Amino acid sequence: MASERLRSGGCLSYLVGCEQTCAGVIVDPTLELLDRYAALATEKGLRVRYVIDSHTHADHFSAARELARQLRARIVMHRLASAPFADIRVDDGERLVIGELRIRVIHTPGHTDDSVCLVLPDRVLTGDTLLIGGTGRTDLPTGDPDALFFPAHAYKGRASSTLGAEERENPRLLREPFRQTAAARRPPRRRELPDPTVRVLAYCQYGKISTLAAATLRTMGYIRAVALDGGMEAWAQASYPIEKGATR
Ligand SMILES: [Fe+2]
Repeated sequence: MASERLRSGGCLSYLVGCEQTCAGVIVDPTLELLDRYAALATEKGLRVRYVIDSHTHADHFSAARELARQLRARIVMHRLASAPFADIRVDDGERLVIGELRIRVIHTPGHTDDSVCLVLPDRVLTGDTLLIGGTGRTDLPTGDPDALFFPAHAYKGRASSTLGAEERENPRLLREPFRQTAAARRPPRRRELPDPTVRVLAYCQYGKISTLAAATLRTMGYIRAVALDGGMEAWAQASYPIEKGATR
């Protein structure tokens, strides 16, 4: 099995392929590395058949659409994904065939309701379900801490771990503490989501995360979601009024 890992900030994406048949798949591509994927596939002699997004991303722009068009590959996401451009919608237990390689899909909701883990012959790509020493956050749209009792990023420079090590050392895998933490962290987000026809303004400090949040909301049907350009930094610099209060 051919395997390459690419890093963009804390986000990891993967090129995996079958060396016998030269068929490949790209997992969780990010727009920032768009030009790298095709070059890497060519370098490895792989023809990319599928582009898989392990879930609807809120922390970076997925390159799945552009990359699939560029490589004439098909986009694979879980059946609950709100993205209208997914070509193949998979469900728990299904297998993707990439030459001699088989990738099994496990539905692991919690970070988002469309999160999946991908089981390869010698490893599991866990998306943002299980992180090294932690789990994906559950406070973004469609997140649900109750669903994430079993909990991919590399925030501390490490890019892989073992299930055994995580079982022993990952505090989030201790189910009771995790449930208590999750319960403490949960404002009932789902009920707070507005009617999809109202205007939603997302804001953050510099305007980057809120731009992603607004884009995610629009793919979910909140078509009037916008982001505050430049974030609160720009707002404060323009001397617009700011009220501070308890966050909900
Ligand atoms: Fe994520």
